[in-house]
Amino acid sequence: MKQFTTEQENFWAGKFGNQYIERNKDLTNNIPLFARILSRTAEVSSVLEFGANIGLNLEAIKLLIPTIELSAIEINETAVNSLKESTNIRIYHQSILNFIPDYPRSLVLTKGVLIHLSPEYLEKVYELLYLSSNKYICIAEYYSPSPVTVEYRGHQNKLFKRDFAGEILDKYQDLKLIDYGFVYHRDPNFPQDDLNWFLLQKN
Ligand SMILES: C[S@@+](CC[C@H](N)C(=O)[O-])C[C@H]1O[C@@H](n2cnc3c(N)ncnc32)[C@H](O)[C@@H]1O
Repeated sequence: MKQFTTEQENFWAGKFGNQYIERNKDLTNNIPLFARILSRTAEVSSVLEFGANIGLNLEAIKLLIPTIELSAIEINETAVNSLKESTNIRIYHQSILNFIPDYPRSLVLTKGVLIHLSPEYLEKVYELLYLSSNKYICIAEYYSPSPVTVEYRGHQNKLFKRDFAGEILDKYQDLKLIDYGFVYHRDPNFPQDDLNWFLLQKN
């Protein structure tokens, strides 16, 4: 297997990343989440997801906006092979850390991905998110007011919580917060994994 720069990239490109795919195949709860987020947007015609896995978020967005153009950055080869089975997803099979923005999309999305990147590269990834969007950035991650590292399924140094959206807002003065929300894992209808989402707009 190809070796990447950080231990976190190798973790997701390898066996743990493959096992994640087996545990996470349900798309349905993403539909109400993105219906809520997209209801606060206008004229979204393209989306680029950083760390798309097998495309469960992109598929949900496609159901809500059938004409949307979909793109995915994904490091795990098994996930990429699954993405290739969906027609019309532009796939960047590589690490986010090496991504070179080509053209801007209406919406750039991360969901459960910034939490798994080496924190020393976050400033760079914020820049990539910003440069890849010409309208909206959606950050759906685990929030903590100050940065913390927590054990992740028995693994050390693989899960980092912080105020990702707040840090991006501080870095780019032309971004404004449009909306934000929380989805509880005990939600009786459409749970998510205690996700905090933030929708930012470029002025
Ligand atoms: C917890 S999963 C979330 C998947 C998807 N965003 C979702 O909400 O279902 C993290 C995803 O990010 C990918 N990933 C992690 N680090 C990455 C990196 N440096 N570059 C590209 N993809 C990465 C993993 O392979 C995995 O598919």
